[in-house]
Amino acid sequence: MIVVTGATGTIGRALIKELGGVTRAVVRRAEQGEELGCEYVVGDLEQPETIALAPGDRLFLNSALWPGFVRAHRAVIDRAAAAGVAQVMTVSVRGVTSSSLLGFGMHGQVDEHLKASGVPWSILAPVGFMQNLAGDVDEEGRIFGSYGTGRVGYIDARDIAAVAAALLTRPVGADATYELTGPVAPTHDEIAAELTRALGRTVRYVDLSVEEAAVHLEKRGMPGEAARDLALLMSQIGDGRWGSTTTTVADILGRQPRSLREFLG
Ligand SMILES: NC(=O)c1ccc[n+]([C@@H]2O[C@H](COP(=O)([O-])OP(=O)(O)OC[C@H]3O[C@@H](n4cnc5c(N)ncnc54)[C@H](OP(=O)(O)O)[C@@H]3O)[C@@H](O)[C@H]2O)c1
Repeated sequence: MIVVTGATGTIGRALIKELGGVTRAVVRRAEQGEELGCEYVVGDLEQPETIALAPGDRLFLNSALWPGFVRAHRAVIDRAAAAGVAQVMTVSVRGVTSSSLLGFGMHGQVDEHLKASGVPWSILAPVGFMQNLAGDVDEEGRIFGSYGTGRVGYIDARDIAAVAAALLTRPVGADATYELTGPVAPTHDEIAAELTRALGRTVRYVDLSVEEAAVHLEKRGMPGEAARDLALLMSQIGDGRWGSTTTTVADILGRQPRSLREFLG
């Protein structure tokens, strides 16, 4: 059985569709399961004992980030190993380590734990999702960031789901990290131009120094330390670490990942 956590999320919903509903979703409330229209169990990653697993299951372990994310995900991985699951697949982030900033570091810590768990593993390591881009545009048509001219190969989260479905329905392969990107890596000025075309109103990218971006984020309600770390993280992304594209999606799916233009329609 393929057990899908985070089933109501962006990737999770697309994954259930890709699997044609042949899956067991883990949801926090029964009405979410009814809405998904596949087999489901009610469970919460905060309570790892509620994630029912049997020998031979393949577990897709994914959720939003919250302060208890590392502890909860590690505990579920331990339960999966003890239950004799055939594979645990997680969604991490490209290039992270346990000492990366903010959520990137959380993912790095979970990745380390998974690799040491003894359970067969696959880590999907995407860059940023196209799904978030339009939401970053403010009322005045601005996107703020500290990426400079750094390129980012944003990916459509549905392509992550398609890769997950393809891998989960093949025999379990060797343990591996799959770095997933879109087909090209535009700058944020180029992304603003694509958004301008798609939204029918002018969008421009406003590049800020790390200090300016931290102040901007704080003004929008983010606590000081997190604002500083996020600003720094954007500038780190801008250094080119997400600037190259990979052929992983095409290699696995036999088709190109969706472009930003296709995504925006
Ligand atoms: N956004 C990006 O650009 C980006 C880039 C790289 C990696 N990622 C990673 O992708 C992951 C998020 O994937 P996504 O966008 O598909 O998720 P999402 O749309 O944010 O959905 C989050 C899912 O997590 C579930 N969830 C949250 N807390 C839970 C808990 N305690 N127990 C069980 N389920 C819980 C939610 O359930 P409810 O419906 O019950 O709330 C929901 O199904 C994160 O780990 C993120 O760091 C994101």
